[in-house]
Amino acid sequence: MKIVVLTGSPRANGNTNLMADEFTRGATEAGHEVFRFDTAKSDVHPCTGCNHCGMNGPCVFNDDFTVKLRPKLTEADLIVFCSPMYYFGFSAQLKATIDRFYALNGALHVKKKCAFLMAYANTSKKDAEAMTAHYRTIADYMGWENVGTIIAPGIWTAGSIKGSGYEKKAYELGKSL
Ligand SMILES: Cc1cc2nc3c(=O)[nH]c(=O)nc-3n(C[C@H](O)[C@H](O)[C@H](O)COP(=O)(O)O)c2cc1C
Repeated sequence: MKIVVLTGSPRANGNTNLMADEFTRGATEAGHEVFRFDTAKSDVHPCTGCNHCGMNGPCVFNDDFTVKLRPKLTEADLIVFCSPMYYFGFSAQLKATIDRFYALNGALHVKKKCAFLMAYANTSKKDAEAMTAHYRTIADYMGWENVGTIIAPGIWTAGSIKGSGYEKKAYELGKSL
């Protein structure tokens, strides 16, 4: 498969970036081709809703989304959303990237798979519900099949996911594909 991994954390040693590393290691070992796009390190202008694209056409912004990511999203078999929880949702960097899907909305409504990896500091399961529902609603809307969800509660400081078992789960998910 051609896999696109979208990361949302701006932290160098970020927990979800480490999960993305391990997912990628597993998926690569299993013979898949992974393209990673770190939204926090990329130039992605927020969508302005100008509708120039007509939801399936050229975007007015010629930035990293248009030049680097857009062609990869179109051909991807699997799209992986990897984000810290920021106020019960995706990080703004990842959300801005998701909003730019608008310009290729039509092209994305095809058979694809998706996965979701996230971490958050609190331990309440309820706190993860909004973000998980958001992910599932996007997947349902697009008609994409969810192939794995890894939710890591109780993970706060950068790098604290190490030894928690969630990196291993991310590796195993990648390897299992
Ligand atoms: C701006 C911001 C908002 C956050 N909001 C939440 C939150 O709503 N609930 C929570 O449990 N943790 C919250 N956290 C903690 C992060 O989700 C947690 O530290 C996570 O491990 C960060 O992942 P990362 O290392 O991949 O960036 C927040 C952290 C930041 C910086």
